[in-house]
Amino acid sequence: MIKLAPSILASNMMHLEDEIKVFEKMKIPYIHIDIMDGLFVPNFSFGTAAIKNMRKMTDMVLDVHLMVYDPIKNIKLFCQCGADIVSFHFEATNKPDKAIDYIKKYGKKACITINPSTMERAVFPYLDRVDQVLVMGVVPGFGGQGLLPHTLDKVRNLRKYIDANGYNVDIEIDGGILPENLEQVIDAGANVIVGGSSIYKDYKLEENIETLYKIIRKYNK
Ligand code: DX5
Ligand code: ZN
Repeated sequence: MIKLAPSILASNMMHLEDEIKVFEKMKIPYIHIDIMDGLFVPNFSFGTAAIKNMRKMTDMVLDVHLMVYDPIKNIKLFCQCGADIVSFHFEATNKPDKAIDYIKKYGKKACITINPSTMERAVFPYLDRVDQVLVMGVVPGFGGQGLLPHTLDKVRNLRKYIDANGYNVDIEIDGGILPENLEQVIDAGANVIVGGSSIYKDYKLEENIETLYKIIRKYNK
């Protein structure tokens, strides 16, 4: 099952509630929420208050991508404000095990994320404990960048390894996904697709989602 996860980093925040209604109407399962600390990535985005408000607005799965240093310090906060999936970066902590344990302790799904410069085998030791691996298709921090082609090899290798070992782990890809490369990304083995600019392009949400869904439907038959 291929799932679409609009990244609200590209949202017009003043109209987020209407945007979420469009996502719900179009039966999109996830909302991808980027959290940035200005240190791990050179940008800022949302905080816990935004997630709390979104939690009140919708039952969609809130997929929270923490681009923050030392995520263990803040995992509790993000679990308690309404996240369903909490992703932390492998590069941001020297205790990935502890981060996973914390997320699980608060009853949330755990996701480990790798930057384009991190080898996929770095997460192999955690695949028996996580629910999802997030492969960054771009250097994190900003929307609207181009997909780095070598990141698809990571997805391919991860998918092979996950399937060969019988793990039940989703592979999410984030950054630079467009209708033009979506088939390639799914064929490589990703099944949770984050879309920022592809969904918000010209602010034609429904049209853009339909374009992506035309491709996704071929796989979800
Ligand atoms: C980048 C963020 C992404 C971003 C994706 O650091 O993690 O979620 O919003 O945007 P696009 O799809 O435009 O690359
Ligand atoms: Zn993201």
